[in-house]
Amino acid sequence: MRITDFEIYRDLLKQKSGLILTPDKSYLLDSRLNPVAKKHGYASIEAMTDVLRAVPPKDLINDIVEAMTTNETSFFRDTRPFDVFKGHVLPYFRGKTGRPKKLRIWSAAASSGQESYSLSMLLKEEQPSLPGWQFEIVATDISHQILDQAKEGLFTQFEVQRGLPIQLLMKYFTQQGDRWQLNPDIRNMVKFQYFNLLDNMAGLGQFDIVFCRNVLIYFDQPTKKKVLENIAKQMAPDGFLFLGGAETVLGITEAFKGVPGQRALYAKPDSPHCGGASSSASGAAALA
Ligand SMILES: C[S@@+](CC[C@H](N)C(=O)[O-])C[C@H]1O[C@@H](n2cnc3c(N)ncnc32)[C@H](O)[C@@H]1O
Repeated sequence: MRITDFEIYRDLLKQKSGLILTPDKSYLLDSRLNPVAKKHGYASIEAMTDVLRAVPPKDLINDIVEAMTTNETSFFRDTRPFDVFKGHVLPYFRGKTGRPKKLRIWSAAASSGQESYSLSMLLKEEQPSLPGWQFEIVATDISHQILDQAKEGLFTQFEVQRGLPIQLLMKYFTQQGDRWQLNPDIRNMVKFQYFNLLDNMAGLGQFDIVFCRNVLIYFDQPTKKKVLENIAKQMAPDGFLFLGGAETVLGITEAFKGVPGQRALYAKPDSPHCGGASSSASGAAALA
């Protein structure tokens, strides 16, 4: 690919999705963009690039962005965050008086849904110890295609073998040929919707827990900062943020601090989790 063509895609991706395309990843362009060119009726990637230089149709831009996203995910990915969710985060909210018995959770780069469905299964398992509690899980992604797949809740044998305990597979899935269908009671706990993390988050409402894992790694430093600070504005004063194992807030923003003793778990600096001034009472008042 010509350098000038590479720059067109690099700039488009950065502007529309925040994704950073470095020259060493340029080999990805050919394999991922060929199907897009074909779908839109262009004879070659070069012909498609010429259209991008002029006034590109919106659906072409969307398809290019979607083609360049990395959707790698798995059930209970990295295990530890889900242990921390169950062993630290849920007990905090369960033990809190004066707070509504309701949790809003955001899976902010949901991909094909395994993260949000892992949370809904975990909450279903924990329900007996949380009588009367309501849970809302909002799962968002920039890719319409991956969201359609996520909503179906249909997984291959390979996908269910990655991280999903066999007893949960037997309890919450039904075999359909060579695939596994997640049962409606678990599927219906998750609301999937399109959302670009670069956009204004105000319309999403306030969350108690945010999972924003394995997406910031694709952004540059100013974009990470902006996204994290916007997430902080959407979080309850005593909310929790989970990042991926290779992600951190350190050196990027002061909007979050690591929760002492809990790797990859973050909270607002003045929250009770970080020993800050915002007492549990003021946190509850802000939510009431
Ligand atoms: C590697 S997956 C991570 C999935 C899941 N959070 C996990 O940790 O397993 C990254 C996801 O981020 C999405 N993504 C990339 N840029 C985005 C953006 N600007 N806004 C929203 N989602 C984005 C991609 O479409 C992809 O599904």
